[in-house]
Amino acid sequence: MLTANADIISARGGTTIEITRCLVQDMQKARPAHAPSITKRAEDILADPDIEVVVEVMGGVEPAWTYIARALDSGKHVVTANKELMARHGRELLKSAEDKGLDLLFEAAVCAGIPVIQSLKNQLSGNRVRSIMGIVNGTTNYILTRMHADRAEYNEVLAEAQEKGFAEADPTADVENFDAQSKLAILCGLAFACAVRPEDIYRQGIGHIETTDIEYAELLGYRVKSVAIGRQEDGKIEARVHPAMVSLANPLSKVDGPNNAVLLQGDFVGDLMLFGSGAGKDATASAVVGDLIEIARNRHSGAHGRIGSTNFEEKPIQDVSDSLNRYYLRVTSEDRPRALGQIALAFGDNDVSLSALEMHELPESRSELVFLTHQACEANFMATLDAIRELPMIEKLDNWIRVVS
Ligand code: HSE
Repeated sequence: MLTANADIISARGGTTIEITRCLVQDMQKARPAHAPSITKRAEDILADPDIEVVVEVMGGVEPAWTYIARALDSGKHVVTANKELMARHGRELLKSAEDKGLDLLFEAAVCAGIPVIQSLKNQLSGNRVRSIMGIVNGTTNYILTRMHADRAEYNEVLAEAQEKGFAEADPTADVENFDAQSKLAILCGLAFACAVRPEDIYRQGIGHIETTDIEYAELLGYRVKSVAIGRQEDGKIEARVHPAMVSLANPLSKVDGPNNAVLLQGDFVGDLMLFGSGAGKDATASAVVGDLIEIARNRHSGAHGRIGSTNFEEKPIQDVSDSLNRYYLRVTSEDRPRALGQIALAFGDNDVSLSALEMHELPESRSELVFLTHQACEANFMATLDAIRELPMIEKLDNWIRVVS
């Protein structure tokens, strides 16, 4: 990108941006002829006084943390794509950059090229953000989209995605939603001006979603998506990442394949949706280069380190058991008199109201029952599940999924 768009980048940044040296693991790997000079020693970059900016795209907390801290200590600006590091230690690193009058920019850490961080830091900063709801992981969105389109099972789609290079060889960070957890921690910090640690965020992966659930979701007017939700209400923060049945009325239900999108609601701007490619080298390059141009502009006007950490407040994080949701539940039951009535009573006894029901005959006098609830407190829904599990005619509690309107 720096080569292809060199003309506009230097015109807009007021200076040329050149890669002086690149830290690599494998010096022998084949590289294009125009590749920059490479080294295996971080020191060659961190101790080089001519290098003004360090770009970190290696990922993981260490050694990236040490390198970035060292770069800042040496008076170098930093651009990073490291969501895990920024989610865990962003506050200290940003404070350090601010104290030293340096830029530490991290647009590529969340949804690659989608300018959600810039939007929150700059253009939306006069708003009180009420909520964020996003599809912030391309791998899980690709898998769930394929499950809808082809009725393929989760394991089958995951294996194929790995073969094609859409999913990592070790897919844990994506499919267990650790990746989304870090991204939401960063977004909540910016949107709600408080520290939200990844471990404060409720997390559930997508591996338990079955084709049958996908079919019922479609029948009932929903799409299964992996969503990241952050809300601020009465000074409390709600933050969670999990699969959900998303209503067709919600624009996130139409975000398909490896795409990402973030829906924001601000008190003055109203509803806003940012959509685009949330991964991949070009989209990531777009974010990194945007940050580099900002540093070049700041250098021109002597305005480095303008925006440091925005996480100045401490706010309580709501426990997921206190959250309010609608729910989908699928069970297999013996088909006998009063079976449906007793299951329905378990909902009512726990103050959970039903809104839709599907019942299908299965072989050997059994039935598959699907329930949708109205909004209920999660603790009440969990108590309902416990009560249903104990009912003698229940053969299996197949699955439950939160429902998002
Ligand atoms: N692995 C991520 C995704 C991209 O699938 O969206 C990097 O955060």
